[in-house]
Amino acid sequence: MIWKFITFFVRKLDPEIAHKLTLQSLKLGLHPRLKQNVISIKIGDLIFKNLLGIAAGFDKNAEVINKVHFLNFGFTEVGTITPMPQYGNPKPRIFRLEKDKAIINRNGFNNLGMLEAKKKLERYRKSFPVGSDFLVGINLGPNKDSNDRFNDYKVLAENLSVFADYVSINVSSPNTPNLRDFQKKENLEKVIKFVKYGIIASKTLNKKLPIFLKIAPDIHYHTLNSVIETANSQKIFGLIISNTTLDRESNLKSKKSSELGGLSGKPLFKKSTDILSKANKIIKNNNYKLFLIAAGGVSDSKTAYVKILCGAHLVQLYSSLTFEGPLVANKILSGMLKLMKRDNIKNIFDIVGVIDNPKEAMNIAINGFKNRRD
Ligand SMILES: Cc1cc2nc3c(=O)[nH]c(=O)nc-3n(C[C@H](O)[C@H](O)[C@H](O)COP(=O)(O)O)c2cc1C
Repeated sequence: MIWKFITFFVRKLDPEIAHKLTLQSLKLGLHPRLKQNVISIKIGDLIFKNLLGIAAGFDKNAEVINKVHFLNFGFTEVGTITPMPQYGNPKPRIFRLEKDKAIINRNGFNNLGMLEAKKKLERYRKSFPVGSDFLVGINLGPNKDSNDRFNDYKVLAENLSVFADYVSINVSSPNTPNLRDFQKKENLEKVIKFVKYGIIASKTLNKKLPIFLKIAPDIHYHTLNSVIETANSQKIFGLIISNTTLDRESNLKSKKSSELGGLSGKPLFKKSTDILSKANKIIKNNNYKLFLIAAGGVSDSKTAYVKILCGAHLVQLYSSLTFEGPLVANKILSGMLKLMKRDNIKNIFDIVGVIDNPKEAMNIAINGFKNRRD
């Protein structure tokens, strides 16, 4: 009850101030300590105690890694981190669309830069070495004004890989001009190569550090196909689907829906799940070995279940933390455990990607496998 009240209050504040306050409270230990509902999963050599994680953008400077596991997340993705500190776009740059349970942000990779993050990560890893049971992904992006963005990815990988359980290559933020061009085949191959050079030059002992590509939901089918083909041929570990969208549905109710930037939260669910499902089919049809992390509009157990049915091994969220508060992960996990019990699913792995159609997946999430309506 108290957390509901606090969330309600915090939501009255300017979104960027609310976010700062949230990070500050986490740092001070003012957060719930939740019963651990657990749905674990192993993908490759990575063991996730819980399949639900915090998406990039929440902890841009790696400040609260050791706190978010209290909220019952199994992993976090810090960043996006750029080589040099970056102020980002002028404020205001985050907008809450209350009526739509959505957020528009045009932050533009505001962060304190790689060296600050390195200090935080170094400190964290002294207590929790790589391989601890809470996993940390590090999301990499170039500086807006860099004159060699490829090299930015290399420098980041070289400096940060040693702290990471996985790295993710951000080629999909809509707020850094032309970043999404890195999804094109030649660029993508080059970015991946540069990240790999960085990993090899880094101090990590794991030269095969898992690499994820974080892609946009606003992607044409042929580009999705070529991204997946490249990811497979370059031995990428998986894809994160998806970042925020530039699309605006015509039925958005909030006045702020015409603000520029990337839209996340509830209205992103359908679009990001469609792309996830398409990616799952391409991967299955070609027998590729790529794992999928879903992000986009996950706010309850059913939306998380749909993502799993449509191909996700792991699920991330950000926006629903704003709307539902710090109990959201616990609620989703306990709800998912009930859905699994209803459907007699012992191991979540057994239902990853088994349904080809997102509508059908939602039908199952609501009615169960036994009672699914045809
Ligand atoms: C305020 C805000 C900042 C974000 N910053 C980043 C970022 O720095 N890097 C990134 O890869 N994604 C960023 N994202 C996108 C999220 O990681 C996630 O992909 C997206 O919001 C969809 O998930 P959601 O609907 O659960 O929020 C940001 C999202 C929000 C709302």
